[in-house]
Amino acid sequence: MVSLKQLREAVARLASCLSLKGDHARRSNISNRAAKIRPSNIRDAARLVTEMSAKTRVINLGQGLPQYPAPQFLKDAAKAAIDANINQYSNTWGDPLLRQAIARKFQRYNGVTYNPETEITVTCGASEAINAALLATVNPGDEMIVFEPFYENYHPNAMIVDATLRYVQLREPDWTFDEKELEAAFNKRTKVLLLNTPHNPTGKVFSRRELEAIARLCRKWNVLVICDEIYEYMVYDGARHVSMAAIPGMKERTITVSGLSKTFSVTGWRLGYCAAPPEITRALRRVHDYLTLAAPSPLQAAAVVALNQPDDFYKELADKYRALRDQLCPMLEAAGFKFQKPQGTYYVFADCSHMGFATDRQAWEYMLRALGVATVAGYCFYRPEQSPRHLRFCYAKYPETIAEAGERLKVLTEQLSSGKPLVVPPEPTT
Ligand SMILES: Cc1ncc(COP(=O)(O)O)c(C=O)c1O
Repeated sequence: MVSLKQLREAVARLASCLSLKGDHARRSNISNRAAKIRPSNIRDAARLVTEMSAKTRVINLGQGLPQYPAPQFLKDAAKAAIDANINQYSNTWGDPLLRQAIARKFQRYNGVTYNPETEITVTCGASEAINAALLATVNPGDEMIVFEPFYENYHPNAMIVDATLRYVQLREPDWTFDEKELEAAFNKRTKVLLLNTPHNPTGKVFSRRELEAIARLCRKWNVLVICDEIYEYMVYDGARHVSMAAIPGMKERTITVSGLSKTFSVTGWRLGYCAAPPEITRALRRVHDYLTLAAPSPLQAAAVVALNQPDDFYKELADKYRALRDQLCPMLEAAGFKFQKPQGTYYVFADCSHMGFATDRQAWEYMLRALGVATVAGYCFYRPEQSPRHLRFCYAKYPETIAEAGERLKVLTEQLSSGKPLVVPPEPTT
């Protein structure tokens, strides 16, 4: 005979089993983390530009990749490394010779001493370095501060580690921040401040005074800085790139990230690196070993040659980009854009309000469809609630390309002076 109690227990077990089955059935196959990651606007736009380019000539001042080829010495070194059978996994933390070359570069250019054995890790691009640094240091629910506008990846980077983002505004004309606003962003849950100097998209180079103000607060709140210095060699008009790790008392709480993508025009090689105190490096290497194992071996061998280039190489690079900036800026001014002349990077971030569109997405579409000039719309660098009115122009392009863009911008000037509102042409049909 089954007792009432046993019957009740059996019913409860069945109910729990059924409800469990319900949960399983309802469960999404997609993680909450992935669901929070918004698709890359810049890369979506780049795909559209590629599609349009198949039908018409588009001048691409959009995605931040150099039109220039990689230097011949670097291509030769990569080919030689492949021929010399350097084709298997490297030391996962990076070829020791490359780590030594990176340490020498940090000493020479950034004025910071790092031990290549214990403090430097080679990664698959600065992108991996940032993800590995965050995975090594941030727990779910920790807070992370970024300056807004910010490099588009920083939002998904934060989502991957389930961090809560706090934004501090960089304001025009010179993209400075309010120290009080920055101070208010810190609290006891703040774990990391993710900084980028020279800054994409604005071209701002953070001054030593600004870095000291940030450093003071990071020390006060025991906060780490991840400092993305990927554009460190592109600084102009006497502006100096200062590494956060070079600010007194900051080396021990800074993870410096950089890479070869921009300086050597090899965005497709996926070579980056980071430097951090030994304890953080140990954790970061544990993550890196399982994220990507190692960066490509023959390209690392070539990178040693790149990092051993004399100072002249970097001076010529900055001179080249300054000249391109000085070619593009007057054309943008003539077409009515308002902007702060960039002191660094290879971008101009220009106010496009004068075009009269409700959103910069529409201004972006007009530029692409009416003029055949690809840019990046400002909203890509802001959280969704913000409504900027900016376009980013990349000038890592040949002078002829910029000249052609200038010709097309004259059409915009004519349209604007006609007094008629600008209209986005319809999507071309195939
Ligand atoms: C600020 C910033 N950091 C990192 C990256 C990505 O660098 P990498 O190609 O080394 O991953 C970019 C690329 O545009 C960037 O603008």
